[in-house]
Amino acid sequence: MSSKGRFITFEGIDGAGKTTHIDALEQTWRLAGHEVVRTREPGGTPLAEKLRSLFLHDAMDPLTEVLLAFAARRDHLISVIEPALARGAWVLCDRFTDATFAYQGGGRGFDLAILQSLEQWVQAGRRPDLTLLFDLDPSVAAARLSVARQPDRFEAQDQAFFERVRSAYLARQQAEPDRFVIIQADQAQADVALQLQQALSEKGLT
Ligand code: TYD
Repeated sequence: MSSKGRFITFEGIDGAGKTTHIDALEQTWRLAGHEVVRTREPGGTPLAEKLRSLFLHDAMDPLTEVLLAFAARRDHLISVIEPALARGAWVLCDRFTDATFAYQGGGRGFDLAILQSLEQWVQAGRRPDLTLLFDLDPSVAAARLSVARQPDRFEAQDQAFFERVRSAYLARQQAEPDRFVIIQADQAQADVALQLQQALSEKGLT
């Protein structure tokens, strides 16, 4: 962990249910007296939010998709994440680069070596201190999403796409087991919250 601030990211396939838990952690850590910066990717700055809406809704080729994700990330890092970490804030980010490896790399089959180069180039060594991966079977996630709103370009993908996204997330976790905690997200909300609490106290994050 960095000595100033904490960079914590939340990942998982669409329908994993991470938002409710990010809301709860944001509350808990604010009450504990931390400066909490709650943000998301793609997005988190006025420019990156504009890129997000193109990214989620406009048809584009896979390389354009990757470049938009990293362009948004660059602006977000420079304008929000790095200054917040330097102040000692706890940054809670709903998705980050693992999502690019999972969705563009796994889901779309985009070249992982190019993603690795972009990751180094755009982030200049910045990586999350901790990544909470909400893992569940895509069929369970799909059932949750079917009652949700109008799907974006990713939510509209089939189950095979999300199987690939899930596997790519798990491959990232296997490559960096110390950075990740896997949360079994197919359980009841209260049980997921309990798993999170246990994992975070083991990491000394309370
Ligand atoms: P999501 O974070 O699920 O937000 P919401 O809950 O508002 O739908 O939506 C972001 C979508 O973008 C999600 O389907 C994953 C996708 N995504 C990528 O494909 N690559 C990326 O690099 C990032 C950050 C997200």
